[in-house]
Amino acid sequence: MIAAQQDCPFTPVYDNIERDDTMTDSIRELTILQPDDWHIHLRDDKALATTVAHAAQSFNRVICMPNLVPPVKNVDDAHAYRARIIQQLQASDLSAERKAAFDPRMTLYLTDNTTANDIEMAAKSGIVQAVKLYPAGATTNSADGVTDINARVDIFEALEKYNLPLLLHGEVTHDHVDIFDREKRFLDEVLAQIIIKFPTMKIVLEHITTSDAADFVLAQGNQVAATITPQHLMFNRNHLLVGGIKPHFYCLPILKRESHQKVLLDVATSGNPKFFLGTDSAPHATDAKESACGCAGCYSASTALPLYATAFDSVGKIDKLEGFASRFGAQFYGLPVHESTITLINTPMQVPTDYPYFDGSSLTPLMAGEMLPWSIKA
Ligand code: DOR
Ligand code: ZN
Repeated sequence: MIAAQQDCPFTPVYDNIERDDTMTDSIRELTILQPDDWHIHLRDDKALATTVAHAAQSFNRVICMPNLVPPVKNVDDAHAYRARIIQQLQASDLSAERKAAFDPRMTLYLTDNTTANDIEMAAKSGIVQAVKLYPAGATTNSADGVTDINARVDIFEALEKYNLPLLLHGEVTHDHVDIFDREKRFLDEVLAQIIIKFPTMKIVLEHITTSDAADFVLAQGNQVAATITPQHLMFNRNHLLVGGIKPHFYCLPILKRESHQKVLLDVATSGNPKFFLGTDSAPHATDAKESACGCAGCYSASTALPLYATAFDSVGKIDKLEGFASRFGAQFYGLPVHESTITLINTPMQVPTDYPYFDGSSLTPLMAGEMLPWSIKA
């Protein structure tokens, strides 16, 4: 149990979804194609020593978010960032096999000053997989994000022309809009209009948190998909707020009510290829989370697969994990699936209470100190 929660009357165990044992009772071990993480924050510089090794243990391709300080704004920035990640990968203790398999894919951070030429260069670069749009002020390091999305039509035209996906942090940011309504308002007031104007632009609505977002994505053509995080499948706002504020469940978009969580679990485990894995693993040092003004982000890179397996198994759908984790994202991005595999086993593991981070700080993972029923087979 982490220090800050020692006296907490509410134990944030994974207890709110009843397991349906009838469907996958016989599955005690599951071998799936090697998965990819289509949305991760690796951060930069000294943080990479921890984050790269954790991500590369399980995932082959990872789509690296560009919200560094300063952000990854053009192809040169992307090349330099990728080189720093690879340098850290090579310096890690990972096996030669894992080092060879890990493939960080870059994203550009869309600003008010991004040009159509930046998009063309990105599309032709071979290393930029997508472009990320943060509405200015929506989340961590989004101050340089887009202030007027409708003013970026030249960018959307270029994305459509070069078939480069737009990854969306889908929340409006007006002060007067309630934090729990921000995703739905974005869909209704912003995204619906963009899709009408740019009907062939590939869009990933990242880290969806509501049944509204799930329904919205289901109602669109195959060019619109969504990623779902482990925390939004496993938890709801009661876990965050009842019995004391749990800062390690605070992320953006914020956890919603249980009815939304259930719909997310439904669509993630439905076998519909519009929904695929994106952890949104977002490291912040423990003291920056356990603070009077705590940072948004859940760290899950090191235990993401056991977390997802636990969520899928809770509804008797562990057999649907491979599609979600290893096939549908690749299919959306037009990439081949991997030939290698990874095996999950129904043997409990304890999530570490923390990891060493940098400059003496620590990193507290999602479900720190808790038991998970699934683990990765050695
Ligand atoms: O909770 C979040 N943390 N949501 C985001 O969109 C950004 C992320 C971060 O970078 O920390
Ligand atoms: Zn993110």
